[in-house]
Amino acid sequence: MSNVVILVGSMRRDGNTDLLARKFAEGAAEHNSVEIISVADYKVASCIGCNTCFTREGNACFNHDMDAVYEKLRCADVLVIASPIYFYGISAELKAIIDRLHTPMRNTFAIRKLALMLVGAAELPNLFDPILMQYQMVLDFFHLQDAGTVLVRGVKEKGDIIGRPEMDEAYRLGLTIA
Ligand SMILES: Cc1cc2nc3c(=O)[nH]c(=O)nc-3n(C[C@H](O)[C@H](O)[C@H](O)COP(=O)(O)O)c2cc1C
Repeated sequence: MSNVVILVGSMRRDGNTDLLARKFAEGAAEHNSVEIISVADYKVASCIGCNTCFTREGNACFNHDMDAVYEKLRCADVLVIASPIYFYGISAELKAIIDRLHTPMRNTFAIRKLALMLVGAAELPNLFDPILMQYQMVLDFFHLQDAGTVLVRGVKEKGDIIGRPEMDEAYRLGLTIA
């Protein structure tokens, strides 16, 4: 049994990313403790590169909304990143949270596996390539295991993802995660 944290990167509540994350969580909850956290619940602006986290006691960020996020991540064995595609990247809100992990505090985290779920409106075959390249670099740099990916094309409006086969794929990936 692992502690699985799913970090949802869409500000659109009950949107496609939320629905995909919930489906994954349904499967993962069969054998794990699972928590979904969403950028929509925190106010985290872009990292300003002040580096004060390097010298602050506990290495926390001055942005206090990050305290709750750090707390959740500290308990995670598996981290699942779920994001809508915004201009071929992840959402700005998600990037802001990830950037604020540029703190020595992250060395106290026990995350050993990462999974990635992405949803975009376009049908382009190479839609996810820029993010997949970053994902691979993060896996390599932090010596993390790839727990799998779910990539969904052609979903634009809220709810478009309902009934798509990738929802089952997310459920199955959740079931096998540990
Ligand atoms: C600011 C913005 C930029 C977007 N850029 C892209 C893009 O580059 N490629 C793409 O396929 N879809 C793009 N989309 C569409 C979203 O990825 C798509 O609507 C997705 O389903 C939204 O997920 P959500 O319902 O969880 O918010 C963009 C949407 C927004 C709002």
